[in-house]
Amino acid sequence: MHAPLLNALGAPLRPAHSQIPADIACAADYERHAIHHIEAHAWQHIQGGADQNLTLTHNRSCWDGLRLLPQPIADLGGAHTRTTLLGQDLSSPILLAPVAYQRLVHPDGELATVRAATALQTGMLVSTLSSYTLEEIAQAGQTAAAEMGQGARRWFQLYLQPDRAHSLQLIRRAEAAGYSAIVWTVDASIKRSGFPLPYGVEAANLRGMPSAQHTSPLQGPILFGTPLAQQAPTWDDLCWLRAQTQLPLIVKGILSPAQAHQAVACGADALIISNHGGRVLDGVVSPVEVLPAIRQAVGAHTPLLLDSGVRYGTDVVKALALGAHAVLIGRPQLHALATAGLLGVAHMLHLLRAELELTMAHLGCASVADITPHVLWQR
Ligand code: FNR
Repeated sequence: MHAPLLNALGAPLRPAHSQIPADIACAADYERHAIHHIEAHAWQHIQGGADQNLTLTHNRSCWDGLRLLPQPIADLGGAHTRTTLLGQDLSSPILLAPVAYQRLVHPDGELATVRAATALQTGMLVSTLSSYTLEEIAQAGQTAAAEMGQGARRWFQLYLQPDRAHSLQLIRRAEAAGYSAIVWTVDASIKRSGFPLPYGVEAANLRGMPSAQHTSPLQGPILFGTPLAQQAPTWDDLCWLRAQTQLPLIVKGILSPAQAHQAVACGADALIISNHGGRVLDGVVSPVEVLPAIRQAVGAHTPLLLDSGVRYGTDVVKALALGAHAVLIGRPQLHALATAGLLGVAHMLHLLRAELELTMAHLGCASVADITPHVLWQR
């Protein structure tokens, strides 16, 4: 007989609930439930930040340090959260960030997440490292859309593979499966991780391809001069990618205003300002701190999305007030998925949407276009 799997509290792993736990009042509440439902090593992998967690904790304090200025006298008739990004309609400026290997926390993994995203008409970014194939996820999304009579956008997140022919295969597969944008992640080609995937969880999209080394325990040879160092993204990669697809091309993982400017000059249609949820390098600036400088560097019209530490509807409004068009949610989707599967992810998204509407109402904003710097208290 196998020993039972343990969670990070040292107790046997609990399966996901079939109902929403009664004490969940906001999206962030899913985290304290999720610890009971996720195996201990997977929990550390998901929750962890780089080194001392300086970036991870800084991300939250940046959001918490901003103050909103209520505007209670306002006409909210006809108010809504809809927005348009890259010519695509979205029901709100909240999207699901690409998060790898979702079967780590629930057997239905990304299939449950895409069904929940479809139900809530929420855009989802599907990772190169998804644990179901991008075609299976697209199919699950399309079936759910047909059943529910509503759809949602799906974008494909690309990690470049060592061989460009394999990267191109992934792009063509994403185009064929109906993904409506390619998101190239540039900030995690080189990162430390010693997390071995458990049996039954794999990078389903990369079957038959030589595995790109995305992480190094940094034992043995030092980085420079190794194949891992050669995987660092280059401007030439961006030019190459731009030439391969007609789909909108979004670069994820930019923090420097100068690199933001150059990425747009090289043909990026939009940027995701991100420090990868504090997972890659410690002591890094937070996206929300650099957002105004990046907005200035790229001009008024380039769509800017942002993630890392977004947990509340108030955070969404703060990001939009400083010049973002939308935000992405990372870890909370795994917390909700582990706690209550599809239902949990749908509920988490609903709570965030409700918080966004409530915040907009207090700030006198009848649409996301009304969210401008005037809703922030600037000393
Ligand atoms: C990620 N992230 C990520 N990003 C990406 O571009 N491709 C990927 O495959 C993954 N995988 C992944 C796994 C896990 C477990 C985490 C926690 C994160 C980063 C993700 O898209 C996003 O940038 C951060 O998660 C945002 O920060 P928060 O919301 O988790 O604080």
